[in-house]
Amino acid sequence: MFTIKPCSIEDVDAIMDMQDHVIEVNNKTGRGNWYIVTERCELEDGLKNNDLLVLGAYSAGELAACIAMSIGDPQGMFKSLLNNHQNNEDKQFGYAKMAIVKEAYRGHGLQRTLLHALEVEVLKNPQLKYIGAIAHPDNSFSLKNLKAEGYENKGRVVPDPHPGYPRVLLFKTLDR
Ligand SMILES: CC(C)(COP(=O)(O)OP(=O)(O)OC[C@H]1O[C@@H](n2cnc3c(N)ncnc32)[C@H](O)[C@@H]1OP(=O)(O)O)[C@@H](O)C(=O)NCCC(=O)NCCS
Repeated sequence: MFTIKPCSIEDVDAIMDMQDHVIEVNNKTGRGNWYIVTERCELEDGLKNNDLLVLGAYSAGELAACIAMSIGDPQGMFKSLLNNHQNNEDKQFGYAKMAIVKEAYRGHGLQRTLLHALEVEVLKNPQLKYIGAIAHPDNSFSLKNLKAEGYENKGRVVPDPHPGYPRVLLFKTLDR
């Protein structure tokens, strides 16, 4: 029913529309800090420079869901979890973000499908050893899916990496 494939620059409008809608709904439902925005320029630059892997789930050609992964360790969040963190270079970390499933397509496990597809891609990069993600502590949907894909909940990130956006950190050591 769904085709999973990398998104390209042609998908930017559809991704931004999906993201705008999530933000609008979250704001209306008191979940304004559940989702951290990715700016259009960040998405475009990431796709153009191949710094950002964006995967989409398509249904009859329509973008139903997306997820992205960048390389690196934003604010040193991941490294601080590891005992020998001095030895860990940023390029060993993949950071999953922008998990969005359109409301009409929720309940088909698409976040998990996309997380799994991301991991398959990530394993092709021999430098990557760890993958992580952050989620609002009340976002039970995302937390459940990340845990089901083997990410461990490492608890609240202190201080909040995005002020006003409380986050828990989920982390997985890749099994090669
Ligand atoms: C998190 C998210 C990607 C999960 O979508 P998903 O993969 O379709 O979720 P699941 O398949 O695990 O859904 C399980 C159940 O929860 C429901 N559900 C999922 N997300 C929901 C939400 N945000 N609000 C209410 N119910 C939701 C599904 O409808 C399904 O219900 P069912 O069992 O009765 O059919 C989706 O909620 C979403 O796009 N949220 C907005 C963006 C966001 O918060 N991203 C995560 C940032 S960390």
